Amino acid sequence: MATTTGITWNEGQPLEEDALRSLEARVESLLARMTLEEKIALVHGDSKFSTAPIPRLGIPRRWLTDGPHGVRQEVGPHTWTPAGRTDDFSTYMPVDVCLAATWNPGLAEEYGAVLGEEARARGKHVLLGPGVNVMRTPLNGRNFEYFGEDPHLASRMVVGYIRGVQSQQVAACVKHFAANNQEHERTTIDVRMDDRTLREIYLPAFKAAVQEAGVWTVMGAYNKFRGQYCCHNDFLLNAVLKREWGFEGLVVSDWAGAHDTDEAVRCGLDLEMGTEKPYPDYYLSTPFLEGIRSGKYPEELLDDKARRNLRVMIATGALDGREPGFLNTSDHQETARRVAEEGIVLLKNEGGLLPLDCAKTKSIAVIGQNAILKFAAGGDSAGVKAFYEVTALEGIVGRAGEKVNVCFSLGYAPDGGAELIERAVEAARQADVVILVAGLNHDKPYDTEGADRPDMKLPFGQDALIQKVVEANPRTIVANVSGAPVDMEAWFDRIPAVLQAWYAGMEGGAALARVLFGDVNPSGKLPCTFPRRLEDSPAHALDAYPGRDGVTVYEEGLFVGYRWFDAKEIAPRLPFGHGLSYTAFAYENLRLAEADGRVTVRFDLVNAGGREGAEVAQVYVEDVAPRLPRPLRELKAFQKVLLGPGERRTVTLDLEPEAFAFFDPEQNAWVAEPGEFRIHVGGSSRDLRLTESYRAQRGK
Ligand code: GLC
Repeated sequence: MATTTGITWNEGQPLEEDALRSLEARVESLLARMTLEEKIALVHGDSKFSTAPIPRLGIPRRWLTDGPHGVRQEVGPHTWTPAGRTDDFSTYMPVDVCLAATWNPGLAEEYGAVLGEEARARGKHVLLGPGVNVMRTPLNGRNFEYFGEDPHLASRMVVGYIRGVQSQQVAACVKHFAANNQEHERTTIDVRMDDRTLREIYLPAFKAAVQEAGVWTVMGAYNKFRGQYCCHNDFLLNAVLKREWGFEGLVVSDWAGAHDTDEAVRCGLDLEMGTEKPYPDYYLSTPFLEGIRSGKYPEELLDDKARRNLRVMIATGALDGREPGFLNTSDHQETARRVAEEGIVLLKNEGGLLPLDCAKTKSIAVIGQNAILKFAAGGDSAGVKAFYEVTALEGIVGRAGEKVNVCFSLGYAPDGGAELIERAVEAARQADVVILVAGLNHDKPYDTEGADRPDMKLPFGQDALIQKVVEANPRTIVANVSGAPVDMEAWFDRIPAVLQAWYAGMEGGAALARVLFGDVNPSGKLPCTFPRRLEDSPAHALDAYPGRDGVTVYEEGLFVGYRWFDAKEIAPRLPFGHGLSYTAFAYENLRLAEADGRVTVRFDLVNAGGREGAEVAQVYVEDVAPRLPRPLRELKAFQKVLLGPGERRTVTLDLEPEAFAFFDPEQNAWVAEPGEFRIHVGGSSRDLRLTESYRAQRGK
């Protein structure tokens, strides 16, 4: 079964030869009948989120929509102003960093299918997600939209997400290609990094999206890369994406990310959106048409762009119609809740304070503005007009039931007020247990597009509040709602139980309550390092963020996230991959076997506690004596395993030769060299329980 790279559907399965031939045949047949003006109409927007119909050929208006965790409300059509409709509500899924924290690629596929089915219901052909930009700094305002700091984890999750979306005949759009790792000066900053860093850290998730998931569209990033805007970047789009990776879908600009006709024509852009000009003045509109007529541009350049747009239109049923989609079904709600339940991370649980027992708990004080805030609509382009959103307070009240008295105290708010703390402390003093919902929100400059945070601090005097509350009542639980690491140093050691709750979607409050009361055994693992101090984080330690004079150089190179903390032997507050359970897991009997360069890793995982639970067993590879500098250990495999109490299971994970390889800039290729490696297995990057050595004989 041959497939073209980048165009597959049927549940993500490769197309049969004849289906491909018919796809390409249809494209060629349509193209041959199109006028120049009609081809031009395919490659630029004629409203904020659509391209013009071509009725003569049965080509309808083609619709694109945000966002990565839900179908955005209607705007415009020619402005960003919400259209004020009543038929554009959608399911608000947990944000993608929460999905990443599930470490469950199968669930990511279910997540994508929800988004695809809802996008189809709203008449959309392209969903502008997932965003996969690496968490290089904890301060990036859009970290909540992405999959954390590790390329392997992000790659596995993104492949599932895209297959899910595209199984619904909706194109996913992996973004923002590439190196859009900060919001500071995002539309002009010029990002520089060496080839190894690009290949080993910043490209893998995009490459997996194209070559494993067959993503149909890629969005160029706003920033420049090595001096050229990413939305028309000859190296990234023509050399890497299209020629090297074989991508046959379309590249869409970020909105107003195109800046030049000649570059847009020659350097890989296939669909221009959001340019702040009248539509005929778009770079790929009249200027391109006139360039072809004058002979400046060969028509073939337009034909290639038109082909790519037609392929995606046909793949998404734009020309043939599709089954109706569905919104806010019970299945969608259930998937949203399961992602939240599996994405919440139990960071600490001393003295068995969690899970709460209603029989022994007579009163609960819920404190914090984040216990009553709704987050769906926030974050700018990722915002969703949600059918509903269960807040943490609503979830806790609903789950605690009639016999438990739950009171609420605001505790903190942007406009402050010292009496808030006094009232909260009094409420804490009166209660059996305190649930303090802390964190950030989607207001600038916290977790939102268009801005980076000034620091990792919790705003609105939360540190002082938390300290005073736990002084008044030692049985205090902190649930942190944020899309990225926050500074917990002022109170973490004094709080017996801490959870990372993310922005967990419209069922988030219900999910949090089910974790707190033990209906669900938490299984989330951090997709990012939580530093003790911002200056421990590589980009900040090297003063390599946010750049200067319009340029940012990724001085830390490969050493992003845990790769840096391991290399510099810095103790993070919480390591990458960390997450606790209400049960305990033992790792035993690690053994390796090798055949044809593939190493099969086997070990026994035991649920040593008294209740069912899921563990994400992680495999890290260490190159003992690398020829070039390499991170000490790198995540190369993982598996989430559900075990009953006392159950033992042999886990088998394969490490292909690529798992040992590194990118050699001299050869401009990945190389897997002979030498000694160590294979580490455990429950986080710093909780490595078993290690075995392996000598690789192969070489390239
Ligand atoms: C925004 C974002 C992008 C979004 C697009 C359309 O500025 O960068 O992620 O999909 O424009 O809203």
